[in-house]
Amino acid sequence: MTSETTISSYFSISFGLVLIGQEIPYDIYINSSSHAVREKFVCILKKGRTLSQNELEDFREKYYQLYVNEEERPLYLRSLVLCPEGSDIEKTAAIKDSAIKHLKSVFEEGYEFTNEVLDETLEGCRESVESMVDVLEDYTITDMQKLIAELSFHDFYTYDHSINVAMYSISILKALKPSATRKEQVMAGMGGLLHDLGKVKIPTRIINNPGKLSENDFLAIKEHPKYGFDLLENHECGHSGINIEVIKRVVNEHHENFNGTGYPNNLAGTDISVFARITAIADFYDAITTKRSYHEVLSTQDALEVMAKSVGRKIDPKIFEIFRKNVDVILSGKSNVELPDDFDPCQPQNILPMQKVAPKIQRSDFFEKEEVDYGKVKKKKAS
Ligand SMILES: [Fe+2]
Ligand SMILES: [Fe+2]
Repeated sequence: MTSETTISSYFSISFGLVLIGQEIPYDIYINSSSHAVREKFVCILKKGRTLSQNELEDFREKYYQLYVNEEERPLYLRSLVLCPEGSDIEKTAAIKDSAIKHLKSVFEEGYEFTNEVLDETLEGCRESVESMVDVLEDYTITDMQKLIAELSFHDFYTYDHSINVAMYSISILKALKPSATRKEQVMAGMGGLLHDLGKVKIPTRIINNPGKLSENDFLAIKEHPKYGFDLLENHECGHSGINIEVIKRVVNEHHENFNGTGYPNNLAGTDISVFARITAIADFYDAITTKRSYHEVLSTQDALEVMAKSVGRKIDPKIFEIFRKNVDVILSGKSNVELPDDFDPCQPQNILPMQKVAPKIQRSDFFEKEEVDYGKVKKKKAS
């Protein structure tokens, strides 16, 4: 049986990400209209059905594009991790589309900024980040970097940047704490995704301006941590699965400097939320290494050297050290090879008998040494 509707709240999905040989948890539609403006979506496969590879090939031949109803986007996102046929790039692109859609609902001018809109955004961001955590489970910082380089970018800088910062924050947390729970990873990702939330209150011409900012524009931008914090502070969050206190702290503290010279509250050292210190490194690294249409980027090695110069002033030395080691390990390209025990250095060799070993994540006891305070927003210091 098929059902028809003319409401155009559908999004396109990739053929490569449709589950094969398992129950599909969402309805699949096609657009049966030939008019670009008068779309007519027809359900061609009801949820709960299982498709074989041949049936999917038939779909591919018959239909130009498949769609899913927006309301079932979370089900689609959750199914990505179950789809071994799909590539990680395709899956991450789908997650990125979803995150952009939710960020757009608050960033795009003309939207009314209600409690309801913010609530939907938070929930949508959580779904996107959970899917990110699942799909990119084994990803190191360097794997993230490679993936980010392959994803296409949006012309609104903040969307790409926020998604990249979420991806890096998750991988930095895992480097700091290899046993990080899924919940902690989601917190790191949510903090990264929403760190620049306060920019919704800054005019687009300023936040998208790649040129030199005037002093007044720069002062306006510096307000964004506080704006973001106020938005969340005045928000009644209706979702128990979202740790709003962690997000609030990341939003408010990601421009604090380790030596207390940052803004808005001149917090220093471990008074700055650990998630905000992680985000600050992810933020910095993405800004200088990810190719944009309008600026050149640094090589990984140069980026690490540039960042090393701000250690202790801007960024947390211990977190940076672990970050650097985890990037370096893979960078050298020699992390996953070793010489056999019977290797004889006195013997001439045409080719060194390197053998592959599984890449290691540098162990870190960072979280055992530092007591982590997830909640409690630090207040402005009395001057
Ligand atoms: Fe920021
Ligand atoms: Fe940022």
